[in-house]
Amino acid sequence: MKKLGILVSGRGSNMMAIEHACKHGELSANIELVISNNKNSLALALAQEKNIKTACIDSSIYPDSDASDKAMVEALDEHDIDFVLLAGFMKKVGPRVLSRYKHKVINIHPSLLPKFGGKGMFGINIHTAVLAAGEIESGVTIHLVNGEYDEGAVLTQQTVSIALDETPESLAAKVLKVEHVLFSKTIQKIIDGIILLPSD
Ligand code: GAR
Repeated sequence: MKKLGILVSGRGSNMMAIEHACKHGELSANIELVISNNKNSLALALAQEKNIKTACIDSSIYPDSDASDKAMVEALDEHDIDFVLLAGFMKKVGPRVLSRYKHKVINIHPSLLPKFGGKGMFGINIHTAVLAAGEIESGVTIHLVNGEYDEGAVLTQQTVSIALDETPESLAAKVLKVEHVLFSKTIQKIIDGIILLPSD
């Protein structure tokens, strides 16, 4: 069983989809630890309800980004984490985590990156921008994390078609539904060696 550390900032629906997949044997892993940078995130409360260990690493506790980076490495190390999954984590991951967990930090993003990623591209903004650009499809990207928002090698993408009467809200719902399946499927493919992570 692989050990997952999940980073969250918000409502945690992707975290819950992974938890469900682990519990039902669709993903041969366990969520060992959930870390949030936001003490008010619904995801933290949901994880606690499921008796998953949680940690809040935020700017009210840690004086600067290096201190929180260090604390995050310590928390992940303590739980012997194999993969660090960003499931709606809205902060940059620090260099200490990225170096300690090199090629093991994975993000999900609700667009076909490199389109509609980066700073400011979160929540409904993404889907509004996709429709404003007249795209005929959108989708989900799962990628390795580097020090920038929504960058790093793409591991998998799945497209979602855009209907003529699509609204940002309807597109968001369609994309999220795909996310909930694709994240755990992709992690299982990594565990099974079907998707290969760089080894350097
Ligand atoms: C998800 O759509 C995820 O792809 C996105 O935030 C949402 C979190 O929802 N992540 C990003 O935009 C990262 N740049 P959730 O908290 O319900 O899983």
